[in-house]
Amino acid sequence: MSQVGLDHAASIPQQARPILLSVQELQVWFELRRFGFGHAGYVHAVDGVSFDLAEGEAVAIVGESGCGKSSLMKAILGLYKPTSGRILFQGQDIHQFSKERKRWYHSRVGYVQQDPFGALPPFMPVRRILEEPLIISGVKNKNERMERIRKSMEEVKLSPVEDFIEKYPHMLSGGQQQRVVIARAMITEPKLLVADEPVSMLDASVRVEILKLLRALQERHNLSVIYITHDLSTVSYFSERIFVMYAGRLIEKAPVHRLIDHPAHPYTQALLTGTSEPDARNALSYKEVPPGEPPSLVKPPQGCRFHPRCVRMIGGECDVNEPPEFTVADRHTVSCWLYK
Ligand SMILES: Nc1ncnc2c1ncn2[C@@H]1O[C@H](COP(=O)(O)OP(=O)(O)OP(=O)(O)O)[C@@H](O)[C@H]1O
Ligand SMILES: [Mg+2]
Repeated sequence: MSQVGLDHAASIPQQARPILLSVQELQVWFELRRFGFGHAGYVHAVDGVSFDLAEGEAVAIVGESGCGKSSLMKAILGLYKPTSGRILFQGQDIHQFSKERKRWYHSRVGYVQQDPFGALPPFMPVRRILEEPLIISGVKNKNERMERIRKSMEEVKLSPVEDFIEKYPHMLSGGQQQRVVIARAMITEPKLLVADEPVSMLDASVRVEILKLLRALQERHNLSVIYITHDLSTVSYFSERIFVMYAGRLIEKAPVHRLIDHPAHPYTQALLTGTSEPDARNALSYKEVPPGEPPSLVKPPQGCRFHPRCVRMIGGECDVNEPPEFTVADRHTVSCWLYK
């Protein structure tokens, strides 16, 4: 996708910006029940995730299917309750919020899902889809609501507004539906946007337009963004940092160019060499994941969760002890015993 003119994101020094979101030792486990046997353990979907996100900062999260990316996002959105750990938004624990404060939080955080059609209520016209979050967040004046609906539709390029405002989701193309989802996420003027594979279900022809729109919104509104993707070529366009997730944990965090040029974790290295392009930035996606199966999240391997697939495994260490985070360069950390 880099061939179609997506420029790289400017890197703004992070120290200058206040922290918007702080995820601390987060665990999200799902109880597993077997018919006739009852409790059969837990799926450790998110298992000890920590990171800070600055105001206006965009990060990408990459990792194989089932590693816990969406579960992490849903906990941040307040949809899943953490099993343990905390999520602080502007310093306040989101799972301690009162009902009213929760409503406020939902207006501060926008969500763009992978499947726009599934995300939109089929029996509501665009006007009502966009009006609902405004009503919920307490905008009582009807004229003000209509004004904001028009403005947000224009911002996502659903214009002329009259052509779209009374349409139902099934009357729109996939790209137009995703614009409605983005308008709905943006209409309450959030500080944080969570985009979970926002273009993977769209035609290639509209993907770039939607990514450009998200990038423009991010810059115009100084939004923080968490962008989940399988598409490494768009990561550097969108994000300043990249987090690699494996079996419920963030195993490597680094500025995007640093990670692509100097991947430290054997898993990240395998992801990048698995791409068919010599330059990972031009690779469309990491279709070829490292050899071997992702581990069970019900009984994750002891020690480093990647050790059964790792070509550089150190016996007696990697298969025994969970590696802590080691710093290998400025803002570049990796959870791997090779960097002890
Ligand atoms: N509500 C739930 N109840 C029980 N298990 C769940 C639930 N949601 C997710 N899981 C399990 O948690 C693990 C992580 O799933 P998750 O959807 O977070 O992964 P993902 O990284 O988003 O995958 P993908 O790339 O396929 O979207 C999976 O094993 C999944 O089956
Ligand atoms: Mg997912």
